[in-house]
Amino acid sequence: MADWTDCLNFGISIAKQASEVVLTAFHQQKDVKLKSSPADLVTETDQRVEKILISAIRDRFPHHRCIGEESVAAGERVQLTDAPTWIIDPIDGTVNFVHRFPFVAVSIAFTVNQQTQFGIVYSCVEDKLFYAVRGGGAFLNGAPLHASGQEDISRCVVVTEIGAERDDLALSTMTSNIFRLLKLPVHGVRALGTAAVDMCQVATGGADAYYHIGMHCWDIAASSIIVQEAGGVVIDTDGSAFDMMSRRVIAASSSAVANRIAQVVQAFPCRRDDED
Ligand code: IPD
Repeated sequence: MADWTDCLNFGISIAKQASEVVLTAFHQQKDVKLKSSPADLVTETDQRVEKILISAIRDRFPHHRCIGEESVAAGERVQLTDAPTWIIDPIDGTVNFVHRFPFVAVSIAFTVNQQTQFGIVYSCVEDKLFYAVRGGGAFLNGAPLHASGQEDISRCVVVTEIGAERDDLALSTMTSNIFRLLKLPVHGVRALGTAAVDMCQVATGGADAYYHIGMHCWDIAASSIIVQEAGGVVIDTDGSAFDMMSRRVIAASSSAVANRIAQVVQAFPCRRDDED
């Protein structure tokens, strides 16, 4: 098996540098622009941090490819090939960043042959470094992470978000899904405002599941391997195998919990990230 330790160490060092830029800008005035909806925001810092990350990767690994949230917003296509590829969200939780709600993360995943080799989520304000390596476990600030292993849905805390899709069908589906989860019943439903950090809660065992529809591959590519390496399960909301381009995900402490959530949540149509 190839050893990507060099890339992992490099990824951690640039995630930390990016986090410093995010933290410096966190308390400053921001110039905010809208993207696809009134809840899909971008700031100069999102764009600057993505440029810093991509240029550092290109300098060090000129043959590697990058998929970045803001590059895609600027018109690049999402094409996941077999080449080594870095999937980047410079600020996951941009709405939080704009409002200074203290959960924002730099998310970096690395794939080879379209399979994620490692994922890094740096929760900037909390100063928490989550990472996982395929077959090598998941860690938070160096300590091993373990999902809760909970199998009983009625004892679960479920994390989710309404998301940035604000058409009537998306809103009614997402709000009625929260109703369906609460009626299962579950112990509680939570939302931190960043898919990457939300999902890492499942890896810590602090939450037992996370479900979302409408997020993008850069929001969840890194955290999905962190959940899997912590012993959790990641599937599509229709119960099929996880596909990071499908814009649907359930991450859970066990297959029993993941499948129970898949039975009750409904989806609304979303254009795949890699659709032409
Ligand atoms: C968003 C966050 C949010 C989720 C949205 C994402 P961004 O990412 O992860 O929690 O609900 O679907 O788009 O835009 O802050 O990188």
